[in-house]
Amino acid sequence: MEIKKVMVIGAGQMGGGIAQVSAQTGWETVQYDINMDLVNKGIAVIDKNLSRNVSKGKMTEDEKAAILGRIKPSISLEDAADCDLVIEAIVENFAVKEKVFKELDRIAPPHAILASNTSSLPITQIAAVTNRPDKVIGMHFMNPVPVMKLVEVIRGLATTDEVYQIVEEASIKMGKVPVWCKDVPGFVSNRVLQVMINEALWELYEGVAPAENIDNIMKLGMNHPMGPCELADLIGLDTILSILNVMYDGYGDPKYRPSPLLKQYVNAGWLGRKTGKGIFDYK
Ligand code: CAA
Ligand code: NAD
Repeated sequence: MEIKKVMVIGAGQMGGGIAQVSAQTGWETVQYDINMDLVNKGIAVIDKNLSRNVSKGKMTEDEKAAILGRIKPSISLEDAADCDLVIEAIVENFAVKEKVFKELDRIAPPHAILASNTSSLPITQIAAVTNRPDKVIGMHFMNPVPVMKLVEVIRGLATTDEVYQIVEEASIKMGKVPVWCKDVPGFVSNRVLQVMINEALWELYEGVAPAENIDNIMKLGMNHPMGPCELADLIGLDTILSILNVMYDGYGDPKYRPSPLLKQYVNAGWLGRKTGKGIFDYK
């Protein structure tokens, strides 16, 4: 199957990045969110990213206009009706994703692949709410999407070889490097990464060191591009809490228990960069 039209569900930081890269690949791209304000905010970020590329001489104004011209704003899931690939990037919550996948399964054409950018939720469980579990797959992009090379590809129990190959080829066309792993809670990436971030949050909770010091120790000592606290704020503390809870439930292992400080920040609405305040202040 040749991919011509892609729909991205969610215009947050991941959905916006995926829509940008999809349009850059040359695909007609539908950018959906629950209201036009959110869709427009997502497209404004894409516009800003592309303008930065123009000012750096990496792209012309015409190329930027062509990419933006391939992005169609949407607040109707019915727009999935003529798409070949749908990539879902909404909140990390199974109940919310379940509703959307049921709708997408009803609307999207029979040949369409339904991919989820979930960070941790079992693809097999998402696939099971549809009548096409063979065409459901995990396409786990990394943040910030336009920059990071990896797409972690996760096959559900029923995902066919053909669908896996189409998604592998699509990821390469998007300029990414697909790397597969099995369908386990948190996959490979977040089983490793979130345990580190959570440990940093436990250290912060215990007063072992201030956030700046924790970050400097990991940046200067381990050559990480960002410290775990800064990275947590980039990812979103709500997303991190959801991922840890999925792994805590999935494995029943106390090593995934979220730091109480993480829960407190999320309860306070301090979600990181996206709300202007998280572990650090961005206002
Ligand atoms: N969107 C688009 N482009 C961006 C960007 C963004 N949000 N942030 C930075 N960039 C671009 C810059 O424009 C710049 O582009 P050029 O090379 O073309 O000039 C390039 O990225 C480097 O940016 P900077 O020089 O400003 O900053 P930097 O060198 O510090 O790099 C970074 C920024 C790439 C984000 C780097 O700090 C980094 O790699 N951080 C770690 C990111 C990471 O670990 N991501 C994975 C998170 S986990 C995840 O995604 C999975 C999950 O399920 C939670
Ligand atoms: P975000 O909070 O930035 O954006 C989520 C978007 O989903 C919002 O715009 C929201 O309006 C929208 N949304 C919520 N309910 C919806 C619904 N019913 N229908 C359509 N849209 C809905 O979140 P994000 O960071 O972009 O994360 C999105 C997904 O990507 C999550 O599954 C997350 O685990 C995963 N992910 C996140 C990162 C990261 O670093 N933040 C990295 C990889 C994967």
